[in-house]
Amino acid sequence: MKKIVVIAVLCLATSSAFAKGNAAAGEAKAKSVCAACHGPDGNTPTSAEFPRLAGQYYDYLARALNEYKSGARKNAVMAGQAQPLTAKEIEDLAAYYAAQKGSLYTKR
Ligand code: HEC
Repeated sequence: MKKIVVIAVLCLATSSAFAKGNAAAGEAKAKSVCAACHGPDGNTPTSAEFPRLAGQYYDYLARALNEYKSGARKNAVMAGQAQPLTAKEIEDLAAYYAAQKGSLYTKR
């Protein structure tokens, strides 16, 4: 029940189309930490080995971060990035990158 109330409040608090996460809250961390590799908008990686994140589906981003954090998806660099993130930070970061313009898929 509590969870439902929290989700309802989050939906009201954000005008974005995403059910979870606050893109504005994710922006600061994205630009100060993740930008070093993925670029400030997640669409301009600083090297070809860093994937684009901008415009990726929210669910995909949140899942990838949770799996790096748990170790289900193994990558030495991203494990170190994801481990200190809280569940809320993961949701906010996923919302931020999902809201950026990118070319990963065609929006319908
Ligand atoms: C030092 C460079 C570096 C930094 C800093 C970094 N990443 Fe990454 N990121 C990578 C690399 C390399 C990969 C590809 C890993 C793999 O093959 O699984 C990746 C992959 C990802 C993926 C999966 C993309 C996909 O298409 O599957 C997500 C999501 C992601 N990073 C989010 C973040 C977030 C959020 C931050 C900041 C908290 C961050 N990264 C900081 C290097 C970095």
